[in-house]
Amino acid sequence: MRCVKALALSAGAVIAGAAVFVASGVYDISATSPHWPVTRFVLELTRERSVETHSAGVELPDLKDPKLPEAGALLFRETCRLCHGAPGHPREKFAEGLYPNPPDPTSAEFQENSDAELYWIMGHGLKMTGMPAFSPAYAPKQLEGVLVLLRRLPKLSPQEFDVLAAPAAGEGLGGSPGVPSGSGSGSEPITPAEGK
Ligand code: HEC
Repeated sequence: MRCVKALALSAGAVIAGAAVFVASGVYDISATSPHWPVTRFVLELTRERSVETHSAGVELPDLKDPKLPEAGALLFRETCRLCHGAPGHPREKFAEGLYPNPPDPTSAEFQENSDAELYWIMGHGLKMTGMPAFSPAYAPKQLEGVLVLLRRLPKLSPQEFDVLAAPAAGEGLGGSPGVPSGSGSGSEPITPAEGK
């Protein structure tokens, strides 16, 4: 009985201490102050496990459609590239100040993600990291294009990337990303990806 009482008391003390810490405003929320190693460990493990679990139900179609990489390249250049960079195109300067820092999509660590994981992350984003969710604004077909492009990225020269990402090449999916032209295979309405 005494043991239970002591446990309850210490749990109460921890909760009260945490509440005082939060309410005091002492915690430095700035993106210029790195996480403590323990916080970083817990956040990264949480992200990995969450992505693994939530992407398990993702079903992808055959990604061999020859139009997909072109459409993906255009969308990648106009959105992802700003934070992640692309062959021959450094990321924007502001992206240096993002914390956590956006990883290089050609790196082995990035490419270790499964197709389902990459697709799920770009569709749903990552809370409190600056990585946006793209499914509210872009059609599944467009995100599938980015996925195909992501897999080709490590082998693309800057010239090859520019040819793929030329605006004319993306017209098959509606020209400007997110703005369907209403012609060709780009006529699908922009609908959010299956809720998952
Ligand atoms: C506004 C900046 C920004 C844009 C735009 C952006 N990202 Fe990110 N992205 C991030 C940040 C920051 C992270 C790091 C998150 C973390 O470490 O938890 C990230 C992480 C990722 C990851 C996880 C990588 C890994 O190793 O687990 C993937 C996949 C990804 N982004 C894909 C994309 C794609 C595809 C696009 C474009 C459709 C895109 N991102 C656009 C900021 C951005």
